Amino acid sequence: MTSNYLTQPSQQNLPQLGILASGNGSNFQAIATAINEHKICAQIGVVIYNNPHAFVQLRAQKLGIPAVLLDHRQFASREDLDYAILQTLQKYHIDLVIMAGWMRIVTPVLISAYSDRILNIHPSLLPSFPGNRAVQQALDYGVKITGCTVHLVIPEVDRGKILAQAAVSVLPDDTVETLQNRIHAVEHEIYPQAIAEYLSEIRATKSNTT
Ligand code: GRF
Repeated sequence: MTSNYLTQPSQQNLPQLGILASGNGSNFQAIATAINEHKICAQIGVVIYNNPHAFVQLRAQKLGIPAVLLDHRQFASREDLDYAILQTLQKYHIDLVIMAGWMRIVTPVLISAYSDRILNIHPSLLPSFPGNRAVQQALDYGVKITGCTVHLVIPEVDRGKILAQAAVSVLPDDTVETLQNRIHAVEHEIYPQAIAEYLSEIRATKSNTT
């Protein structure tokens, strides 16, 4: 686990990342590690989670990163949840939103406020196997190669512009768990890399237009 995050001074001039996560948070951890290793030039301003028992909360706590619980069960609609997310992101001056195992569908409330500024990682080679249970779907279909995809978030689920992909072979005796584990390991490589590249792209676009 990364430990020197706490010792770093808050660097307000760095792009601020807001992480949305519902569960384990291993992708969040990989991103935090990449930041500590100076592979991503940014800072994680806040982690937002929607399940009170999500392990990601403990991970964030250990790293001294603010973690905010927004339990979807407390909101009347998806839009209401997204307004609360938006308020939190704005409170922490978030520039780029990173969905890392966020198990809620986001609405135009959030997407239009952060247009082209929300990234997601999906455990298949999109456009194959969008939606839930992508690993199970790949096994059921019998594909020999699957993988993971980093993409921009648009209102159509798992359909935004693809930023990065990596392939993972399906082995004859794979179960959802074994295949998922290998996909996860690859996600931890490509997600930080894709974030770093996308931030460079944003910086380049900004400096060309100023
Ligand atoms: C990852 O497999 C990601 O592709 C999917 O949710 C999972 C999150 O894992 N969207 P973790 O919480 O980052 O460990």
